[in-house]
Amino acid sequence: MERFEYIKEKINRFGQGHLLSFYNVLNPKEKEALINQINEIDFEDIEIASSQLSIPLNNKREIVPIEYESVLSLTDSKRKMYEEHGLKLLKEKKVAVVLIAGGQGTRLGHDGPKGTVSIGVSSNQSLFALQAERLQKIEEKTKSIIPWYIMTSPINELETKKFFKDNDYFNCNPRQIFFFKQELIPTLTTNGKIILESKSKISMAPNGNGGVFASMKSSGILKDLKMKGIKWVFFNNIDNALVQVADPLFIGFADKKGTEVSSKSVKKREPGEKVGVFCLSEGKPSVIEYSEMSKEESEGEKFTNANIGIHLFQLSFLEKTMDVKLPYHFAHKVIPSVNELGQTIRSIEPNGYKLEKFYFDIFQYAENMSVLQVIRENEFAPVKNRIGLDSLETARKMILQNNKRDKF
Ligand code: UTP
Repeated sequence: MERFEYIKEKINRFGQGHLLSFYNVLNPKEKEALINQINEIDFEDIEIASSQLSIPLNNKREIVPIEYESVLSLTDSKRKMYEEHGLKLLKEKKVAVVLIAGGQGTRLGHDGPKGTVSIGVSSNQSLFALQAERLQKIEEKTKSIIPWYIMTSPINELETKKFFKDNDYFNCNPRQIFFFKQELIPTLTTNGKIILESKSKISMAPNGNGGVFASMKSSGILKDLKMKGIKWVFFNNIDNALVQVADPLFIGFADKKGTEVSSKSVKKREPGEKVGVFCLSEGKPSVIEYSEMSKEESEGEKFTNANIGIHLFQLSFLEKTMDVKLPYHFAHKVIPSVNELGQTIRSIEPNGYKLEKFYFDIFQYAENMSVLQVIRENEFAPVKNRIGLDSLETARKMILQNNKRDKF
């Protein structure tokens, strides 16, 4: 009872008293589950997040495009030099890979983690299988084993692990693969109230790919990387069907540049393409999402160097920034929620926000950053939607075209 009164006082203090609206009609098990869930929530963090909800878009910040080098401009000897340098670092076991796979893939609507979806180019090839295959190609070339860290979320963790096990870890050594989990955070109404999904359950969603840094710290991965003597950590998303995992050219490029962070980019398909672009914001390396730019900025000719979610971080940079609190971004979504009668309903229009941290928000803490612009047709086939643009079908076509060009 004492515990209940304490919790009630706490949530009232944070303006979230409605979480107990149906408490009296719950059975003892449900009561316990709800109280446990409330106990897990960092209400101060939620308060900070909801205060960011009402901050208008800062269009006054000074942004200029960031410098980049294009692979097309590399001479043969420079390309070879970068590649050989990258291979050397891989042979010396200085590189680890982090695969970001904690998302829910709501747009794709696939039943299961996005990595389990089959691209089906030849046999039943899942996105996880494709990435494992590419990692192994580099391992064969360098006669080394590359540690592979895979971020899941509490929502897709078990299914992801089972998929790996059922597929014999795609011929990887199970001991080179390390799973870790990002955290969940409550979803919010447009007024900053935490959403109840049912009478006894708070609606929770993964805290965005930017949750990766806190989870790498809390799961001991940063320490593990240090112990292994890793210098560069290669990050990539699950949903790029053409990603060149642990690309030696990119690793060599980043190391020769000597920057704390390095990213791959592609040229925007057309000025209005809905992607984030690399820039210096108030002098600091940044990616600005299309939704956070004015129309002139996002559709003009100035910012055309698009982020494709492939990055290299020096481990020393990750250690330096591991306690930084990244800001939240708000994704307006349809979120199942309970009505006054205690029934769970799904509205047609977006009714609330998922709170997401983006991992590129860490760039602003880097002293310097280098960007390598690559060829979209060779390296970027995002699988976001069920049909149409950036879908399984477009990714499949791009892989086939690449195979014809003998790239993979
Ligand atoms: P997206 O932002 O495209 O999200 O993810 P998503 O979950 O795949 O798809 P939608 O938006 O629900 O349709 C880009 C990358 O970030 C990862 C995804 O797994 C993907 O690799 N991600 C996203 C996370 O790891 N955690 C998250 O909370 C969100």
